[in-house]
Amino acid sequence: MGIWSKKSIAQLRGEEGQTHELHRTLSGVHLMLLGVGAIIGAGIFVVTGTAAAQHAGPAIVLSFVLAGVGCLFAGLCYAEFAAMIPVAGSAYTYGYATLGELVAWLIGWDLMLEYLFASSAVAVGWSGYFTAFLRDYLHLQLPPELTSAPFDVEPGGHLFHATGAIINLPAVLLVALLTGVLVIGIRESARINNIIVFLKVGVVLLVVGFGAFYVEPANWTPFLPENTGKFGQFGWSGVLSGAGIIFFAYIGFDAVSTTAQETRNPQKDLPVGILGSLAICTLLYVLMSLVLTGLTPYHTLNVAEPVYVAIARAGPALSWLRPIVSLGAIAGLASVVLVMLMGQPRIFYAMARDGLLPHFFGRVHPRFHTPYIATLITGVVSMAVAGLFPIGLLGELVSIGTLFAFIVVCGGILLLHYRRPDLPRPFRTPFKPVVPILGVLTCGTLMVGLGVATWLRLLGWMALGLLIYFGYGHKHSRLARGETTPSEPPPADLGGPL
Ligand code: ALA
Repeated sequence: MGIWSKKSIAQLRGEEGQTHELHRTLSGVHLMLLGVGAIIGAGIFVVTGTAAAQHAGPAIVLSFVLAGVGCLFAGLCYAEFAAMIPVAGSAYTYGYATLGELVAWLIGWDLMLEYLFASSAVAVGWSGYFTAFLRDYLHLQLPPELTSAPFDVEPGGHLFHATGAIINLPAVLLVALLTGVLVIGIRESARINNIIVFLKVGVVLLVVGFGAFYVEPANWTPFLPENTGKFGQFGWSGVLSGAGIIFFAYIGFDAVSTTAQETRNPQKDLPVGILGSLAICTLLYVLMSLVLTGLTPYHTLNVAEPVYVAIARAGPALSWLRPIVSLGAIAGLASVVLVMLMGQPRIFYAMARDGLLPHFFGRVHPRFHTPYIATLITGVVSMAVAGLFPIGLLGELVSIGTLFAFIVVCGGILLLHYRRPDLPRPFRTPFKPVVPILGVLTCGTLMVGLGVATWLRLLGWMALGLLIYFGYGHKHSRLARGETTPSEPPPADLGGPL
């Protein structure tokens, strides 16, 4: 037993049987709504504009297709794992089953970039739309020192500089409010989420449906602006960079798999939730980016509220749509923050159950049945990050961290395909081994599109993770001490290490 020790699928399922504390209340449709709730957010409402203006031009549509294809491959692999191992913890748990404890820890650590940092990034995007709404419709001008990040970094640069601002207060307050909602319980939060998801999808459909009548086809020429001579600035390398950046917009469908222990029929509901939400969002994104770049020249989209700006270009005919877009973005982005804040504690919960994090991370509230301590810790860290850093920096970090986790998930499915073809698979990734291989290649290519500075930040984060593992997790691992065993002997068809 050591850093490469693995859990068998039987152990994982046995643990699932032991943990009755989390309520099983969610259905396949709930999960699809949860997925869409996690996916559509600051990516389409904020980051698309910057990516089109600085990297891809109207060809941002192709970036969306490329990133969507990568997510589809990864989504198929996620669905196979999620149905086979329906326990809390997402890619962390899958890593424990296939690649061993050290890799599992590194994925769990890496997933903090995806969930915790994404909750902060989207809260920052929310703050932009919220501040604009207060200004335009309630004539309340908040001081810029209290609505933006005190630290920033030059594009592609390494060193942080002070901006003169003090804190992004609306972003901090939003995270505080949603953390409170999550401590009280998942059923209440899922209900709020469902209402907001309908609102958010409605806004996207309105923008696409009405915006389409005001598109100027001239804005789509040149569709693929010529490269400026620098990698990532327009041309095909721009499409690639754009794809790495707007990949952020797709993040969230995998959050569905972190709720496996709260799902009624995980083996059927998880694939429906993951693939269904991904399909809906890909279609909406492609249409939305076509309409946005068709309504206005792409270089005008480099603003905090690009959807708003594009609609304004259509003139007075669409002015009725602006407050609706504004409110839709405010509610919609808040729902993304909610799902991200919900996913992170469930990963902490799984890691604490395995002894890789201190026991209190896994404590479940006796009345609310929520992992309340992990939720509070997540909330406090997310508030600090949201209050201090800008969305561009956070978004790229979230993208690269998530792409790394996706590569590990696809790699894990590939490994199981050869090592354990006998395992029962309620959902099978089609065309194996082609799909997982393409998943690794596509996500790897998207990572190349992100700059050197982002890579270095990822490496720094992982190095910190290694230090913590060897300082704490390795010594306290329950698997290494032989403590993690299923309550009943494993069924013969599942037994044995992978
Ligand atoms: N996909 C999420 C968003 O776009 C993170 O906000």
